[in-house]
Amino acid sequence: MKVFEKAAELNQFLALGRANGKSVGFVPTMGALHSGHISLINKAKQGNDVVVASVFVNPTQFNNPDDLKKYPRTIEADKALLEKHGCNVLFFPSVEEIYPEKDNTIFDLGGLDNLMEGKFRPGHFNGVAMVVKRLFEIVQPNNAYFGEKDFQQLAIIRYMVKAELLPVNVIGCPTLREASGLAMSSRNMRLTEEEKIEAAAIYKAMLEAKENAKSFPPQKVKEFFENSISHNPIFKFEYFEIVDSETLLPLLEWNSERKAVGCVAIWIRDVRLIDNLLIFP
Ligand code: PAJ
Repeated sequence: MKVFEKAAELNQFLALGRANGKSVGFVPTMGALHSGHISLINKAKQGNDVVVASVFVNPTQFNNPDDLKKYPRTIEADKALLEKHGCNVLFFPSVEEIYPEKDNTIFDLGGLDNLMEGKFRPGHFNGVAMVVKRLFEIVQPNNAYFGEKDFQQLAIIRYMVKAELLPVNVIGCPTLREASGLAMSSRNMRLTEEEKIEAAAIYKAMLEAKENAKSFPPQKVKEFFENSISHNPIFKFEYFEIVDSETLLPLLEWNSERKAVGCVAIWIRDVRLIDNLLIFP
């Protein structure tokens, strides 16, 4: 695996491949890699000649400085894992490399950025859009792979790619879970073994919600979910929204023509977890 820290050098290397007709698949990450990330690498390998991953803990998407400071950084393990799974190129830039100057761009994200995560993490999606756009400019991938685990992020990236006319094909990939049902996440590293066991209740509550959706309207399903979660004092509940999978707007009733996704954010101590599940149909 080739490792680049400089955008210009990476760009030059990839330009050679491109000139030889090689397609480029790109998996942007913030590192602390797990099997969920690797599933994106595997998908990229299937559809491209060259697979590029990036590891960059992007400061502009952290609205909370403490969260940025505590975000796990495991670059040596990340390199070994990427190498083992056949990633061809790693881009591991410094903050100065990505942001040589302060960037005050405000993206129009169609209002998708004001809901759910956007309400609780102001500015977060603007930072995501900023870094993903820059990474796309540097890597110029044919295909880019994102997890449905970050459902709202995926919708926003699709929106931005369309709005900015970026020549990239965005591919969404299913959420990988632990055997317990807990969605894999870099943030899980900060949970104790006991907390991880407790955290599996989040997925269970979402499965219950899916079952309840067969008999109850969305508002009731939401109430049941909240009650089930708030029984456990380990959780600090932030939101559970049932939204249209495309508009991300809250659903007041089920509609057989539209997909409804339950999206949740919950804290365990100072660790914030998000997850989502198709609730209806
Ligand atoms: P990060 O949280 O490292 O995630 C990188 C990619 O892996 C994202 O597309 C995310 O949705 C996907 N992913 C995470 N957990 C997953 C799981 N359990 N199953 C499947 N895919 C999973 O998301 C980011 O980084 C950043 O916001 C980024 C897009 C890199 C911009 O900085």
